[in-house]
Amino acid sequence: MKVTDLSIPESVKEIIIRSGIVDLYPPQEEAIKAGALEGRNLVLASPTASGKTLIAEFCALKHILEKNGKTVYLTPLRALANEKFEDFKKYASIRKSDGKRVRIGISTGDFDSSDPWLERDDIIITTNEKADSLLRHRAKWMDEISLIVADEVHLLNEAERGPTLEVVLARLMQINPDIQILALSATINNVEEIAEWLKADYVTTEWRPILLKEGVLLHDEIQFRDGDARKIEKKTKNTTINLALSTIKSGGQALIFASTRKNAVTLANRVAGEVEEVLFKSVKRALDQEAERILAAGERTRISESLAELVKRGAAFHHAGLGGGHRKLIEDSFRQGKIKVLTATPTLAFGVNLPARTVIIQDYRRYEPGYGYYPISVLEYKQMAGRAGRPKYDKVGEAVLIAKTADESDYLMESYVLAHPERIWSRLAVERILRSHVLSTIAADFAHTEQGIYDFFGRTFYAHQYDVSAIKSIIAKILKYLYDEEMIDVAAENIFATKFGKRVSELYVDPVSAVIIRDALRRKPAYLTDLSLLHMIAHTPDMGPVLRPYARELDEVSVFMEEHRIEFLVDVPDEWEDRITYEQFLGEIKTAMTLKAWIEEMTEDEIIERFRAQPGDLYRTIENAKWLLHATHELATLFENKQVLPQTLELRERVEKGVKKELLPIVKLEGVGRARGRIIYNAGYKTIEDIKTAPIEDLVNLPLIGPRVAKKIKEQVGGFVKKETWEKLEKEEAWKQKALTEY
Ligand SMILES: Nc1ncnc2c1ncn2[C@@H]1O[C@H](COP(=O)(O)OP(=O)(O)OP(=O)(O)O)[C@@H](O)[C@H]1O
Ligand SMILES: [Mg+2]
Repeated sequence: MKVTDLSIPESVKEIIIRSGIVDLYPPQEEAIKAGALEGRNLVLASPTASGKTLIAEFCALKHILEKNGKTVYLTPLRALANEKFEDFKKYASIRKSDGKRVRIGISTGDFDSSDPWLERDDIIITTNEKADSLLRHRAKWMDEISLIVADEVHLLNEAERGPTLEVVLARLMQINPDIQILALSATINNVEEIAEWLKADYVTTEWRPILLKEGVLLHDEIQFRDGDARKIEKKTKNTTINLALSTIKSGGQALIFASTRKNAVTLANRVAGEVEEVLFKSVKRALDQEAERILAAGERTRISESLAELVKRGAAFHHAGLGGGHRKLIEDSFRQGKIKVLTATPTLAFGVNLPARTVIIQDYRRYEPGYGYYPISVLEYKQMAGRAGRPKYDKVGEAVLIAKTADESDYLMESYVLAHPERIWSRLAVERILRSHVLSTIAADFAHTEQGIYDFFGRTFYAHQYDVSAIKSIIAKILKYLYDEEMIDVAAENIFATKFGKRVSELYVDPVSAVIIRDALRRKPAYLTDLSLLHMIAHTPDMGPVLRPYARELDEVSVFMEEHRIEFLVDVPDEWEDRITYEQFLGEIKTAMTLKAWIEEMTEDEIIERFRAQPGDLYRTIENAKWLLHATHELATLFENKQVLPQTLELRERVEKGVKKELLPIVKLEGVGRARGRIIYNAGYKTIEDIKTAPIEDLVNLPLIGPRVAKKIKEQVGGFVKKETWEKLEKEEAWKQKALTEY
């Protein structure tokens, strides 16, 4: 079947053909035959790289151009949302029947907003979590959605994210019963079950356009699934690195999956030294520029500096602790073939198209705090493996697991390479997870009676697989909790959300966190300090795992706790009565101490050393603190707790930037983070007005501030830079760069 044969608008065909696609792949043909273009619901389950997105593109444009419809494209990851956004941009030149051009939008950020501007977009790419939060705000434009694409729908199986996805799909089906659903999935064992749930047909195939050779590497030999074997050169003691080097030698690029952020960073550092030696001069020059770009994007931190150093040497790491700007730069420069080896956490495991000739899976185990190590699922392995051998980039791909012993090698071959992906199961029936979905069902008007709530949950994948009666008792318990805490109220048959309940649902926090915050704000302690609030948010379940004190730190943290006892908004548990709660409490104190150090401008390096925290944990803590302080501010507004409002607002900003109060005005400038802000401030430019009148040469001469940053700062404050001055500065900088590269 050819693109020209399809019943889609000519303008769309032209663009697809121009992008180099003329013939459909077999799975695509089957999807068309199954009625994808006739508005039929469809689950398309086919291997990685088999072109599932294109079917979504056809359907989306058909809806927009022929049915006056609107499409939402759901992805599980931000990296994937960005990639799909780029993919869809090619259609932005097409005009609709009203003469306006097709508009593509992306929305992955702020969870407390209804993003009304999305109303104008025809295709909206978003993450499952963002879609959930938009539904809680009852964004008006959501009623107009006519097509929903659920990419990587097999993630229904994931403990944290799966329930969000199934609730989102159930809600969208409820709002618009005529909606077309297109679910894209890896090959899994129970596709028909998902299809039944979605009232869809399904297509399954085993076809892949590019040969993917899967195997296991032990010492210096890869054993492939098809019986082939290949030796690799033993250049270093590290097998993973040797394989990556052999890939580069053959002209390819390698993507290595590590189990933790820390491992990803360590490995990138190890591999960089070796990669550097085999780089061409021209590539090195391009990489130097990339490194500059990384340093210029956002604040200069230890992470951005180490990333820039690595990039210069042809390697990089990618994980959720990186800022969005940095992640995109890394993804792009790997795509352009500049970075040769990329190490990543599963942030890149799903759906993305990257030029990885070899995917290396360094560790088949994952660590979960409080649970220990467990082996990853076959499904996740297949997804990671599937990043290799993508049509645009390579003729064949290799996915290799690393074994340390012969036994392990056998185990990996059996349990992953030759194994079939498992069935997927709904993970909805967990009280902690259901709690906020039950509240939002009521708060966002998806149900008004107890029966209505059961009806709604009766539409989930969980109810399809088990039976809604299996979670009725959990839901009943949650309803009682929400009623007791005044988030919902009852009038005769009707259940409705109170103002409090509504706001909690929109704020996207666990109702338990909201209760902790509300009760704490009511207490009005004698000394309400920053520490009071930082500890209070550390006490909520939304903070995630607290930073627990090490044995040697215990005394210090307990002494600190005693000294600050009157500041806490939560009762200190008795050490002898409940040891577990007490230790958790000390962890909350340490978390608060860490956040305090952060807003007192202790450097990241110092914090990591002083509190022995992982950089990833530090970033996660900061991210969550920011969000919880926003929630605190909003709840204080709701309860008219006026005296804490300025404090929560200021604290939120300080946590976001990691600065003392005095720096707040100047770190509002783009490109000025805590480090540059401190330098500018200490040089005597304490206000925006000071910066406005400062000669640009003086700013350029400050450490960490080159001409580019100085110009960006000046432009924002509305200061004037003379053309001659700027040209002179640029020339000087060019000389400096030239001298550096020649050296
Ligand atoms: N008919 C076609 N001819 C040539 N190339 C195609 C065709 N269809 C899709 N492609 C290309 O194949 C690549 C992989 O497609 P896509 O990302 O949609 O795969 P996928 O099935 O979604 O894989 P994954 O399960 O990994 O997400 C893309 O670069 C796409 O442009
Ligand atoms: Mg895909």
